[in-house]
Amino acid sequence: MELPLSSLKEIAVKFKEEMHRGLAKEGTSLKMLPAFLSKPTGDETGVFVALDFGGTNVRILLVELLGNGKHKIIDRLSFPLKDIDGGYDYTASTVQKEELFAYISRKIQSLVNKETTYRLGHTFSFPCENKGLNQAFLIKWTKEIGTSGLEGQDIGLALIDALKEQNIRNVIPCAIINDTVGTLLTGAYQEKDCDIATILGTGHNTCYVERNNPWSQLPMIINIESGNFDRVPRTRYDHLLDESSERPGEQVLEKMVSGKYLGELVRLILIELNKKGEVFSNNDLTELLKTGMLTTTDISFALSTKQHRLLDIEKMFIERFKLESISDNDILLYQLVCRLVRDRSARLAAATYIGILQHIDPLLKEHHVIAVDGTLYEKLDCYSARLIDTLNELLEEKRNLVKLCLVKDGSGVGAAIAASMAELFSYGK
Ligand code: BGC
Repeated sequence: MELPLSSLKEIAVKFKEEMHRGLAKEGTSLKMLPAFLSKPTGDETGVFVALDFGGTNVRILLVELLGNGKHKIIDRLSFPLKDIDGGYDYTASTVQKEELFAYISRKIQSLVNKETTYRLGHTFSFPCENKGLNQAFLIKWTKEIGTSGLEGQDIGLALIDALKEQNIRNVIPCAIINDTVGTLLTGAYQEKDCDIATILGTGHNTCYVERNNPWSQLPMIINIESGNFDRVPRTRYDHLLDESSERPGEQVLEKMVSGKYLGELVRLILIELNKKGEVFSNNDLTELLKTGMLTTTDISFALSTKQHRLLDIEKMFIERFKLESISDNDILLYQLVCRLVRDRSARLAAATYIGILQHIDPLLKEHHVIAVDGTLYEKLDCYSARLIDTLNELLEEKRNLVKLCLVKDGSGVGAAIAASMAELFSYGK
């Protein structure tokens, strides 16, 4: 699991090569999807509805862009697409797109003022082929979502149809963007040097501003869909995880980096260590043998400097996993595995950012800000420190030119910025 600097440098070069292939539309794991948008000026203003659909939790925001890089969230609503008590599940393959978008439309209606007309920006955090700013065809679901009738379909149209069907006439969808793009728009709204944005959360992906884009003379944000990158050294645990996932062979990097999968990787390693008699010996592992039983929240708990005491972790294994005899060594080994999985994730992500920097600024002469959003970066103990350390090691004496910047609500605020830019932007009209 430990990736030396030399491997990271190789990964960066391979990532850059794949970006070039993707831009040239040669077969590659990187889709390099144009967003039909460039950077905002920071002076955009107005009140917009932002729909942020990135996983099983959907958010709707009323955002006021104040100009001068500032914004205000006027109101917000957050709701799950899946009831934890099993009441409903709009993410299941047994559910049709119409049901899903009717549900979302009703939620939009409950947030907006009936007398006002709004433009809506939609952050849809799955790989989409945009044909214009408000036309995005879902290539495939990721993050284990499977609602029927949407793959290959225009997400923009699905929302427009649902709003019409619900007789909601005062909300006008005008932009669909990826969450990385939203984060870049929000980062660039505040900081002019921001030209890369990344999500390190349940999913993983990065976008950047392509100055010489092959589609038009103007700079264009490109959604790399970097989670699908596959030229990385994989361990047998990665293969095991992949084989039992919804879509084997896909999203190789995402399965090594994102929060959706880190807990499962730890679980698979523990099971293998147990088979070798190195951890949790003389215990009944029935509970721990169940897929998905460990999550990134557990990793966070295990590594948290604030709360963790060996006793608390021991209690978790006893109560949740029904283990009976746990030694301090078992817990220390568990923490070590959590650390290895966390650090590999941060180091891999850093290597891909270096690949992007080498593409946009080969001699690294300019300042770059990488906007970051997502719970791994924000909340997982020491994750951001590992990421920054690795970037610094790779950048050597150029380290001062690259800055990481946490952009909260990037995907929501970015949707509002995209909606505000929709009129001005002529791409795809
Ligand atoms: C999706 C990306 C998204 C990322 C972060 C991935 O699973 O393919 O489109 O940007 O998750 O949410």
